[in-house]
Amino acid sequence: MKVAVITGVTGQDGSYLSELLLEKGYIVYGLTRRSSISKFERIAHIITHPNFIIKEYDLTDMVSIMNVLKTISSYSVLEIYNLAAQSHVGLSFEQPENTVLVDGLGCLKILEAIRLLNMKNVKFYQASTSELYGKVQETPQTETTPFYPRSPYGVAKLYAFWITKNYRESYNMFACNGILFNHESERRGVEFVTRKITTGISKCMKNPNHVISLGNIDSKRDWGHAKDFVYGMWLMMQKNIPCDYVLSTGETHTVREFVEKAFLVMNIDIRWEGSGVNEKGYDSKSGRLLVDINPEFYRPAEVDLLIGDHTKAQTELGWSPRIKFDELVREMTLFDQI
Ligand code: NAP
Ligand code: GDD
Repeated sequence: MKVAVITGVTGQDGSYLSELLLEKGYIVYGLTRRSSISKFERIAHIITHPNFIIKEYDLTDMVSIMNVLKTISSYSVLEIYNLAAQSHVGLSFEQPENTVLVDGLGCLKILEAIRLLNMKNVKFYQASTSELYGKVQETPQTETTPFYPRSPYGVAKLYAFWITKNYRESYNMFACNGILFNHESERRGVEFVTRKITTGISKCMKNPNHVISLGNIDSKRDWGHAKDFVYGMWLMMQKNIPCDYVLSTGETHTVREFVEKAFLVMNIDIRWEGSGVNEKGYDSKSGRLLVDINPEFYRPAEVDLLIGDHTKAQTELGWSPRIKFDELVREMTLFDQI
């Protein structure tokens, strides 16, 4: 019997990974922090699955992590996926301390709990990120590209990356980093730019006065689909020897292109006028204003370009993304029209 623990189970990736592992016959322990209201929206369809067990903890609380792991430490095989994080880069500039406590030290706490409980049977996955590359030192980015994070989030994740590698080398633990480039879906949080755009289009369709306000629309991202990416996480954990892998699509697109493609799904062609904070996007047929720029959404330091090379994952894991950019944009835009 295979058993998995997923931190951040209520998040986008946690929900898709839970589905995948349940399909594969795993017992899944989904870890969640207490909330005064229910936030099981993304996992509502699997919450009653007999092999799905929800447990409460908080990634900033070592005692709670030890308590949860103790109850399951006797399983002969255990995969722990650390997906929990304050995952919003922009917010990390406003909440740098909380971000490092969760995203940096949270990872250390799990690794240390595994070590203290002497759990030899564990495989550990850390949700590392292309934000580690930040001000990119090489293009495309691979497992050997030097890191240069550009936000408190990126810096916190850099600590988590290295502490994962350090525990692997120091204590001979199976601990691996998935360096994942942006991945999205209809379950993406609405504060991330792709979903902000697709939910924004839905508001524009319903309200003739709605305008989508964005920040830097010239930054470039390597956007894939979350379903493909959680499969890659699982593949990394099936290896006998732990290793770090980039998961990416190998394509990059600007936020501007995402806006254009998403509006095109609704048969609206965007015409841009102006530049910088004065740039605006109009419906080319009706002339209606649909997009404007609000500097409130600019970041103190930006990651201008991300594009990954997933050759290592393709060669060693047999992984490659199936869902292309256009399909992703279409799926998200249509989903939000309901
Ligand atoms: P997400 O939707 O924002 O989910 C984050 C999860 O972390 C939520 O379940 C959240 O719980 C939980 N969490 C936050 N603070 C916590 C705390 N103090 N204790 C326990 N749980 C806490 O993120 P995602 O997109 O699924 O990403 C999953 C992981 O991959 C994250 O670590 C992210 O940094 C990393 N990553 C994501 C991408 C991407 O493009 N999606 C790319 C690279 C790496 P609540 O529901 O209670 O808020
Ligand atoms: N969120 C947001 N909101 N971003 C905007 C906006 C806006 O209104 N306008 C422009 N952007 C730009 C951001 O400045 C950034 O350059 C780009 O859109 C993508 O922003 P996000 O969707 O917030 O994602 P991210 O790339 O910063 O971070 C995501 O991907 C990382 C992997 O590279 C998150 O999922 C991170 O957790 C993940 O590690």
